[in-house]
This record gives sequence, C-alpha cells and structure tokens, in this order.
Amino acid sequence: MYAARMSRLSSESAFFVLAKAKALEAEGRDIVHLEIGEPDFNTPQNVKEAAIRAIRDGYTHYTPAAGIPAARKAIADYVSRTRGVAFAPNEVVITPGAKPILFYAILALIEAGDEVILPNPGFPTYESMVRFAGGKPVPISLREELGFRLDTKELETLLGPRTKLIILNSPHNPTGGALSEDDLAAIAEMALDRKILILSDEIYSRIVYEGDHHSVVSLQGMKDQVILLDGFSKAFAMTGWRLGFGVMNASLAEKITLLMINSNSCTAAFTQMAGIEALEGPQDAVAMMVAELNLRRSFIVQGLNQIPGVTCCRPQGAFYAFPNIKSFGIPSRVLAERILMEGGVAVLAGSDFGSAGEGYLRISYANSLENLEVALRRIRDVLTGIA
Ligand SMILES: Cc1ncc(COP(=O)(O)O)c(C=O)c1O
Repeated sequence: MYAARMSRLSSESAFFVLAKAKALEAEGRDIVHLEIGEPDFNTPQNVKEAAIRAIRDGYTHYTPAAGIPAARKAIADYVSRTRGVAFAPNEVVITPGAKPILFYAILALIEAGDEVILPNPGFPTYESMVRFAGGKPVPISLREELGFRLDTKELETLLGPRTKLIILNSPHNPTGGALSEDDLAAIAEMALDRKILILSDEIYSRIVYEGDHHSVVSLQGMKDQVILLDGFSKAFAMTGWRLGFGVMNASLAEKITLLMINSNSCTAAFTQMAGIEALEGPQDAVAMMVAELNLRRSFIVQGLNQIPGVTCCRPQGAFYAFPNIKSFGIPSRVLAERILMEGGVAVLAGSDFGSAGEGYLRISYANSLENLEVALRRIRDVLTGIA
C-alpha cells in the first residue's frame, strides 16, 4: 500500500520516549524528563514581543519562499559576523526549523548509490534521510577516547569515488563532543581535494562552554563547498516556533527554495520577524542560558561519575551528557527502559543514535538543577540495584 521509500525512513526515539513518559505521567507517575533535546528556558521576552508586534503589523501572509528579504539579510550578516566569511542574502534559505535543511539538502544532492559520511553515534535524521533519498550511509565512529571526536585518518579511509557528502555536527548531538580546529582543517583539505560537499550542522553553535565555536565554512576555499545549517531552536529556546536556516552557494539555495515552494511554501512571516530581533537584539538571554547550562553540565557530569560503574566524559558543547554504562553488561535500550520504568527518569539509549552508541545513555541536562539532582539519585538507585 505504501511507497517503498517509506520503509527506508526511520523515527527519532526522543519523540517515542517522550510519548511513553507522558503516558506514565498521565497514570500518575512522577517522571523527570531528560530525553527530549530542548532548552527548558523561556524564549527571550524581546523576541516574543517582536513576534506579537509583527502579527499586529500584518506579517500574517505568505512570504517569498526563501524568506523575507530583511530576515535573509539579518541571517547573512549574522553568519558573516560569526563565521568570518561574507555571505549575501541570496545564499540564505529560511525554513520552519533547521531540520528541513537536512531534508532538502539531501534530497537535492543525493542520488541512488551516492555515499554520505555521517557520525556514529549521530542525529538519527541523517541516516534516515540518506536512505530515503536512496543514498548509502557510511558511518564514521566518534571515539570516547578522543572526547567523541572522529579520527581524521579513519575518515580518509572511508572516502571513495562515490562519496558525495560529509555530514559534520559540532557541537554534537548526542555526545556533546566538538571537533577541534585541526580536525576541521584536515577534513576541509580532504573535501577540497576530492570536491566533496560538507553539510555542517551547527545548530548548537551558540552552546559552547570552552573556547569558541569553530566552523568548517570559515576555512580557506570552503565557502562554496559547505551547506551550513543553523537556527533558533536551541540558541534562543525557540524549538516550538519552527525557525531555522541553511546558508549555501546561491545555486544550491535556488534548488532548496524550489523544494520549499513545493512543500511549505514559506516559513511563518511573524516568526521570521522575531528571528531578526533574536539575532540583532540584546544577547544577554543567550549568555544567561549558556552560563546556567554550564553549571548543570558540571553538576550532571560530576554526579554521573560518582555512580559506581558509570564514567562520563565532559561535554564541550550542546546540552547532552553521554555516560558510558558498558560495565553493566546490559544493552543500553534495556537499561534506559529500566531507568524509566523503575526510576521514573526518561533518558535515551546511546544505541538509538547508531551502533557506536551502544554502551552509553544520552542525557539531556537542559533541566533544572533540582530535577537533575532527583534524576541522579534515581538513576543511582536503579543502577546500584543492577550492579
Ligand atoms: C543535531 C541536530 N540537528 C538539527 C536539529 C533540528 O533542529 P530544529 O528544531 O531547528 O529543526 C536538532 C534538534 O534536535 C539536532 O539535535
């Protein structure tokens, strides 16, 4: 009954576990939510006001498919400023959330048999979309001993005549790892030599705890070879607004606009106006969020490392901890299920993000310190019962 391509599309366990945790709550259970990847902060007030003003001012109609010119310009300026490379508004496509950029870029570029390098563990949509488009996912393992970075020498061995695209995600979901400037330089050199495109998912670019965010697009000669994905969901606590963007060469931007025309038509007008305020208005709310997340990072990493049998690397960015639970000898899905059912804490299995995630849990620490404290106690109780 369904088209064969549908069997190649997979889901995201975060939404599945969230639904299950909510069902337990409806039965009266007390659940701490550490499964879904979204900041618990409120969208900054100035951004909300800008959206309300925009609705009052009549931004309630269709906009050009790639975005309102002033919003495309604000994004081009922002990316030029933060990545140190000049971008023009016609190199920007605004989408409802950043996720459609993955969908569209892969649909626009990948043909049957094309190979796409993607991180393992990694954001599940990458592999799902590559398969959907008929491409072949080629996973590269992220290694705990490298702070969950990839090994660039290993990457080189995976590149072949069919490699069309490399997907990078730094800072990274689900591990919180980040690629170093040396990693990016080595990857850029390989991509330039072989004319391989890079899709650089930088949705966590504003949530970096040590040093600055580094982008592969900033490197010499890379501008036209990189599709940069970023957005407002994580940086400005705007997950429900659905506002993201891609920045790429103007020719690809036209193709992606065509996909927008055939799917969404455009991104909601007033959210685009709010996006201008988010980028150009005061940034103190972002700084406050990152400072608070940094406290939570220290708290959760320290707490996890104090649980016998658990070790946890210090994440460099995003708001995920990826503790190693291999010593329990239990598949991570089973362990995550027991932590939910017995402990009332919703976490994700590392294996939901790819085979190299087996033996880990993904914990989103974008939750209050009080809730994290309760969660740590409950996780400890479940795990000591197993050990
Ligand atoms: C790595 C990564 N890329 C992209 C996205 C999508 O972001 P958006 O909510 O803006 O579509 C997410 C959201 O969880 C993510 O973790």
